[in-house]
Amino acid sequence: MKKLSLLPVAAVVGLLFFQGTTKPEVENYPIHPELTPDMPANIKAIVDQKCYGCHNAESKNEKGKEKLDWDAFEASKKSKQMATKGKITEALEEGDMPPKKFLEMKPEGKLTEAELATLLEWSRGKKKGEN
Ligand code: HEC
Repeated sequence: MKKLSLLPVAAVVGLLFFQGTTKPEVENYPIHPELTPDMPANIKAIVDQKCYGCHNAESKNEKGKEKLDWDAFEASKKSKQMATKGKITEALEEGDMPPKKFLEMKPEGKLTEAELATLLEWSRGKKKGEN
């Protein structure tokens, strides 16, 4: 009898241990821990490196800021975000962003194939290949 009564305790300890080992994926990307579901950490990491410099509220790139401000994007309503994501998808599909002129001076600013695919998957709101 004594042994049996330890079973529930073992189960609880086991469960706690299990939960402790399944950390959310987000922790792989330390840049912005306070992520909203609309801006997953992997997306934010790419945007920070390749887009944010021109597209933020403080940007000196007036045209870029006017067209897209990621700070405002994050704070905006879901419906607005959906519309913006459509524009982002378009710009990426056309290969317009980052701008070619900028890439001539700063080739390392170009999105890698993997980054492009990841961003598109997010902006389209679908899995790759579903279209
Ligand atoms: C070097 C600065 C720069 C970088 C880096 C940059 N952009 Fe832009 N972006 C601009 C400018 C300038 C415009 C306005 C272009 C125009 O109106 O002709 C723009 C416009 C846009 C637009 C609006 C398109 C439209 O016509 O509505 C989107 C969406 C966009 N950028 C997304 C991105 C994304 C996504 C990234 C990162 C992969 C990115 N941009 C990186 C400067 C930049």
